[in-house]
Amino acid sequence: MNFNLSKEHKMIQKTFASFTKNEVEPIAAEVDENERFPSETVEKMKRFGMMGIAVPREYGGAGADELAYALAVEELSKACATTGVILSAHSSLGCWPILKFGTEAQKEKYLKPMASGEKLGAFGLTEPNAGTDAASQQTVAVLEGDHYRINGSKIFITNGGEADTYIIFAMTEPSKGLKGITAFIVESDTPGFTIGKKEKKLGIKGSATTELVFKNMMIPKENLLGKEGKGFKIAMQTLDGGRIGIAAQALGIAEGAMEKTVQYVKEREQFNRPIGKFQGLQFMMADMETQIQAAKLMVYQAAAAKAEGKPYGKLAAMAKLYASETAMEVTTKAVQLHGGYGYTSDYPIERMMRDAKITEIYEGTSEVQKMVVAADILR
Ligand code: CAA
Repeated sequence: MNFNLSKEHKMIQKTFASFTKNEVEPIAAEVDENERFPSETVEKMKRFGMMGIAVPREYGGAGADELAYALAVEELSKACATTGVILSAHSSLGCWPILKFGTEAQKEKYLKPMASGEKLGAFGLTEPNAGTDAASQQTVAVLEGDHYRINGSKIFITNGGEADTYIIFAMTEPSKGLKGITAFIVESDTPGFTIGKKEKKLGIKGSATTELVFKNMMIPKENLLGKEGKGFKIAMQTLDGGRIGIAAQALGIAEGAMEKTVQYVKEREQFNRPIGKFQGLQFMMADMETQIQAAKLMVYQAAAAKAEGKPYGKLAAMAKLYASETAMEVTTKAVQLHGGYGYTSDYPIERMMRDAKITEIYEGTSEVQKMVVAADILR
């Protein structure tokens, strides 16, 4: 195994680092303060070719791999976890299932404009009664002629209301349980598709998180993704990859907080010396850095496995579990190391701590990641 990034990956990392410094960091606090979706950043990401980073060139993407995608989410999230998750949900939950399970016609019609950034993607699996128990879908799709009539709702949808193209799951044969779930590609301008409640959240406040409501929404048969009854597997496989994106987001948040903390403890003086000279604080920071480096290896390992076509479900679950808990621990300690200043919005640390929490919850809670890991090792 090569523990070093290739020349190409280092170049991609450098490009995204400078994009983050110039375009993302300057507005991160304002985006959080105003709970504002940063459309102008998404527009710039489009021009940088970031929206289709891991999509092959033949479908309008940049043709880079999963590791390059993870590096992009990591860099963005160092300054703004909102921007990180916009890219993550669009890429791994929106583009990837079409790339993997879509027909050529679906790739042409839906993937290409998503890869170019012309259209934004999202994923609708979660329902009020189907969170961790994702198989308990209550949204129903009934075939009538050459259309499915879809009724139901989804909650907590990242990019909700901002996205144009949604991967939606619905029961086509409720009696078959999870084997009766089917995936569909749904366009936001379809009659019967509306955006419901917009959530007010603890963190990632600029990211749009909404309810989706379907009332007699007619979806053409050709928008069925994969095969009827295969929706649950499509959702699970999609989330296996999505978890790499969230792990990368968590890693970026932790690194961003660490960078700010190192700077702070060198500058802040108490008892006539920089507080970084105190061994008690140094020990805390050594633990933080060790966890970050371990998380980094796990995230890159999972991303590289996916890029190389190797099994990655367990690696992605472990990376998300560890990186998200690292993000939470590192940002909490970072607030502590900043003292009273860290608790104020004059510094970005309290925002980073609020943003970190969601990484332990969405795309499967930490407990779900443990279920996935345990199922794999006991198989
Ligand atoms: N790949 C392929 N197939 C898989 C799979 C995977 N990763 N995981 C499960 N399956 C298959 C199994 O093989 C099984 O198929 P067979 O019956 O043919 O063998 C079938 O699916 C059922 O598997 P399980 O019995 O393991 O399913 P379960 O109902 O017990 O669920 C679970 C397991 C891990 C808890 C799963 O439901 C899960 O991951 N839940 C969490 C869902 C989640 O992450 N939701 C987040 C939604 S997205 C989001 O957060 C919002 C956003 O926009 C960011």
